[in-house]
Amino acid sequence: MGKIIEIKNVTKEFKVLNRREGLKGSLKDLFSRDYKIVRAVDNVTMSIEQGEIVGYLGPNGAGKSTTIKMMTGVLEPTSGEILVDGNIPYKNRAKNAENIGVVFGQRSQLWWALPLIESFKLLRDIYQIPQENYEQMLELYKSLVDIEPILHKPVRQMSLGQRTLSDILAAFLHDPKIVFLDEPTIGLDVSMKAKIRTLIHELNRRRNTTVILTTHDMGDVDALCRRIVIIDKGKMLYNNDIEHLKGFFGSYRTLKIRLDGDLEQWAQQLAQELPDFSVSADDEWISVLVDEEKAKVIDVLAGLQKKYRIRDMQLEEISTEEVIKKIYEEGVQ
Ligand SMILES: Nc1ncnc2c1ncn2[C@@H]1O[C@H](COP(=O)(O)OP(=O)(O)OP(=O)(O)O)[C@@H](O)[C@H]1O
Ligand SMILES: [Mg+2]
Repeated sequence: MGKIIEIKNVTKEFKVLNRREGLKGSLKDLFSRDYKIVRAVDNVTMSIEQGEIVGYLGPNGAGKSTTIKMMTGVLEPTSGEILVDGNIPYKNRAKNAENIGVVFGQRSQLWWALPLIESFKLLRDIYQIPQENYEQMLELYKSLVDIEPILHKPVRQMSLGQRTLSDILAAFLHDPKIVFLDEPTIGLDVSMKAKIRTLIHELNRRRNTTVILTTHDMGDVDALCRRIVIIDKGKMLYNNDIEHLKGFFGSYRTLKIRLDGDLEQWAQQLAQELPDFSVSADDEWISVLVDEEKAKVIDVLAGLQKKYRIRDMQLEEISTEEVIKKIYEEGVQ
């Protein structure tokens, strides 16, 4: 397998004005030279193989979108090198555009007033997709999703889910080697998320398209990504298989218990009692993430049973979400 994307020691800095407060401040800002440098991406090195689906993860403001913008050629790196299928993206934007598709979950790339099929035809002409390939792609789409109901609908009349679906189909239409998906499932309900994940998975499998996916939804990661790259404050924290990562946290298990009453309050009390472990609550369960190198789950449970009336319990391996959260909080040693 060949490397389709190579990123070497890439840094991106933004020069931003140090803003002052109030009207007087705004007036001063007009003439100000008081800048500070924000390093959004800090010396990142990674490569991606043709056909991979890579999860590009990190907390808000980590530098994910900035990295994607450099790979798509919208931004030029401050230093370092990026090659996308052998091209330097910002120098060869037109050439790069032939190889990539992009979806930003927050806003559509499609023509707002046009029915989807008309957008498809425009894209066919822009990318000079041979008619035969275009028709094959439409056939493939029809076999994967129910597109009839949206094909003749203007994008502005679509639900968010239909629009996202349309954006993804549009991004893959010219059969690019790489598709960047920046938060594709944001704001969607559970069943739409499932549809979108299946679609991405199938398109990757059928067309061997490389997919770079940023998301805050661990369901996306579990469904799609074998490898993940994690960045925080611009710096790469992790770059490896997800399974490897879970193995690294192999000594962690989640003990879930049910108690009567306000679970939030219980969770707060338990957090004080079990300072070594992280405790959280949802509508149904209180979860205790137990590091078995510190204490056996069985012993923790026995201790709790002496004091509380536990109505139900479950034991789970550490979830992707918990793994990622721990890395955001503590890093990988
Ligand atoms: N055009 C810009 N000018 C100045 N600063 C910017 C610009 N774009 C991004 N930044 C800053 O760079 C940092 C990284 O932003 P980026 O959008 O890449 O984060 P992200 O990982 O995509 O976050 P999110 O998960 O919230 O989408 C942030 O501190 C952001 O404020
Ligand atoms: Mg972003």
